Amino acid sequence: MSARDKIFNALINNRDDYISGGQMAADFGISRNAVWKNVKSLQEQGYVIEAVTNKGYRLVKCPDILSPELIKKELNPALSGPDIEVRAEVTSTNTVLKETASLHPDKDYLLVAGRQTMGRGRLGRKFYSPDGDGVYFSLLLHPKLTGAESQYLTTAIAAAVAKAIEKVCGFNAVIKWVNDIFVNGKKVCGILTEAVIDFETAGLEYAIVGTGINITTPKDGYPDEIKDVAGALYEHGKAIPGVRNSLVAATINYFYEYYEKLAEKPFLEEYKKRSFLIGESVKVIGNIAAPDDYYEARVLDIDNDLRLVIETPDGGIKTLMTGEVSIRKI
Ligand code: BTN
Repeated sequence: MSARDKIFNALINNRDDYISGGQMAADFGISRNAVWKNVKSLQEQGYVIEAVTNKGYRLVKCPDILSPELIKKELNPALSGPDIEVRAEVTSTNTVLKETASLHPDKDYLLVAGRQTMGRGRLGRKFYSPDGDGVYFSLLLHPKLTGAESQYLTTAIAAAVAKAIEKVCGFNAVIKWVNDIFVNGKKVCGILTEAVIDFETAGLEYAIVGTGINITTPKDGYPDEIKDVAGALYEHGKAIPGVRNSLVAATINYFYEYYEKLAEKPFLEEYKKRSFLIGESVKVIGNIAAPDDYYEARVLDIDNDLRLVIETPDGGIKTLMTGEVSIRKI
């Protein structure tokens, strides 16, 4: 851990008290001048740190910035989680991790961004990722899973994000099979999982689980093509400070609870409990390019293999695989 991280942790862990520069210098084996320089660098990042002669330093306010320190601070201390990097802007957190996966051959790696210029969604769609209104993060993992089991990563992160939204923001977050998170009838989060298979072992070489959460509605609203579906957790400018760091941390905490035993599907109960399509009438669209070509059905369940169990109007029972169809609630 860098001296800056140590000083930051000391300040944040003693938020109500002053810590003397001399104490931190002795604890971290650096000079008082080095303490001061690191405090100054934190102040330049927007942290309000009071410096009082004969008392020391006190953290008064954290800025609403995305920061690896603030994410780490809220991670479960028992977690041997990912290394974390935060960038203000990337093309796509999934794309950047794919390009740099070889730099992290063993360790999990979390890349978080405040903006994506080329955010990607499922089925080749774009994912609208404007600055300041969302948080976009991808987790690089090296799971011991078969290709078929890799879909559990998506389901596990969907359950984890929904729980995180509820814990951090207090909203009821529900899941639209297979991986969209809705709050108050609008899609507030999308998930894109990409995996590279090792052909020799038929297992995964690595997987990248990408999550985009809409935190606030953009100032000028959503683009026409998504405005009927997309929503955000808060109105523009009304998010609680620090919510982006807290949501990333809570999602990671919940995800790793599942990840340890992923093949046993520990997320299934939570996922089904939050799946709002169960019991609903839906349109089943076989070809996204022809959305008017659909049939109606009632969703009976999500089975243990994460397939949607539906009843067709003639009383027939079908199971649908993820990626096979598009489902619209009637
Ligand atoms: C979808 O709803 O179609 C999936 C959207 C996934 C968006 C996330 S944002 C972080 C990561 N990087 C990307 O380019 N996409 C995923």
